[in-house]
Formats: sequence, structure tokens, C-alpha cells
Amino acid sequence: MKGIVLAGGLGTRLYPLTKVTNKHLLPIYNKPMIYYPIEAMVGAGIRDILIVTGGNNAGDFLRLLGNGREFGLNHIDYAYQEGEGGIAAALSLAEFFADDQPICVILGDNIVQGSIARYVENFAGQGSGARILLKEVPDPQRFGVPEIKENKIVRIDEKPSHPASSYAVTGIYMYDPQVFDIIKTLKPSGRGELEITDVNNCYIAKGKMQYDILDGWWTDAGTFESLLRASNLVCQNAMEKENSGLKKQQAGNVS
Ligand code: DAU
Repeated sequence: MKGIVLAGGLGTRLYPLTKVTNKHLLPIYNKPMIYYPIEAMVGAGIRDILIVTGGNNAGDFLRLLGNGREFGLNHIDYAYQEGEGGIAAALSLAEFFADDQPICVILGDNIVQGSIARYVENFAGQGSGARILLKEVPDPQRFGVPEIKENKIVRIDEKPSHPASSYAVTGIYMYDPQVFDIIKTLKPSGRGELEITDVNNCYIAKGKMQYDILDGWWTDAGTFESLLRASNLVCQNAMEKENSGLKKQQAGNVS
């Protein structure tokens, strides 16, 4: 499976932090934001990765990530998104890279606590269609929100004022190669973007959408509140790991 990290857009919700840099280069605790989706991909065994970025700071991604040696990779692909045409527009730039293979897409501002390997395996076993990951959240109106009936997603609403469930559609999506034909049929939404929610609703209409509920915490980092929350969660996680390592070491010294 090939992996695509979407790190375009202008990050205007984080102005003035994003006035002279790209949102995905901002720090989340001790690493640049873009590291986390790349690590999630690599942790799921995906080694063929494309980064889609844009704006004035695209060159900084190359300087920061290079060929991905820090992640154990030999090579990273890059694509440039002109303007801010939406998540589906950014994804359309990956058609050539995907080369008729199934893909795993992660939004560059999404951070997960645990491994996504098992969900990627589930999708590999699915054969065709799409698979998305859901997470229960206190503020679903900020996200794409699924309506679920008899364990099936019947529709996704983008940022609804009256959410049909308390789940968010996370920015981790898996698609078969049909996704690029679907994107070609989309029209810009009210906010002038090609919406990933419209792509997902097409798969739902065809009866080709499956989902998993994500284990562990998940957050985006595209607003001031979520940016801070992401750093706090990652920091807490790192400290818990360090403490459990110390305890194991101490137990080893005693025995
Ligand atoms: O975080 C999950 C949510 O992400 C989903 O629940 C929503 O359904 C989905 O629409 C998206 O919502 P946001 O409004 O948070 O998306 P945002 O515009 O902040 O873009 C998220 C990432 O997508 C961004 O960090 C980089 C990438 N992106 C976005 C746009 C608009 C691009 O690569 N190009 C773009 O033109």
C-alpha cells in the first residue's frame, strides 16, 4: 500500500503562526507536526510515501525531511499543490504516484496515539472500496460527522451544526484506485473546496465504505486549542513511556 500525507493549505486558522511558515512545520511538543503522520505510516509498514504540500515554504519540507532517513526510509516523494483547493484537490495530485494501487491518506495535522497497522491490514483484507477511522469526540461539529444506522455509515455531514452522532471522521482514509475518478466528478463546496467528505459520501452511496473505531487518543492540530492539546497529549505520552521504562529498569535492578 502507498501512503500520502496531505500538508497543503494555508493554515489561516493559525494566523499569525502560519504567516511565514507552513502549519505542518510548527512544533508539536518536540517534533515538527509533519513527523507524526509520517511515523504513523511507517509504523504501519508503509514505506512508499508522498508528501503533498504548497505555499511559500514548500522547499522547507525537503530541507527538513530529505529522503526520510530519520524515519528509516530511502526515499520520499513530493508534490506541490497550488492554492488551497481542498483536501480532495490535494489528493488528486497523488494519482500518478498511486499508480493504480490502494492508498492510505493521512492529513498532515492529524496525530494518533497508537499504531494504525491493524486498520491498514483490515483495509488490505477488504479488497476494494474505502475505509475510514472514527473517534468519539466532545465537539463533533468541528469535523466530518457520520450518521450510523445498524453499524453502517449512511451519510457524513461536514461540520454540521446538529451532529447526527458524537463521532468525528478522523483524517485517516484508505481508498482503492477508484478514488481518483470520484474526485474528477466533484464540484467545489460552499467554502470553495473539493471536499473529502464528498468523496466519502460517494463510497457510502455505492455501499463500498467500511470503518473502524480508532483506539487511543486522536487529535487534529489546526486551531490554537487543538495545537496546544496535541502538544500536551504527545508530551504526556512521552512521559508515561519514560516512567514505565524507568519502572521496568528499577524492577530489573531489584531482581
Ligand atoms: O481532522 C479531521 C477533519 O479534517 C475531518 O473530520 C473533516 O471531515 C475534514 O474536512 C478535515 O477538516 P478540517 O476543516 O479540519 O480540514 P483543514 O482545512 O484544516 O485541512 C486539514 C489538512 O488537510 C491540512 O492540515 C492539510 C490538508 N489540506 C487541506 C486543504 C484545505 C491540503 O493538503 N490542501 C488543502 O487545500
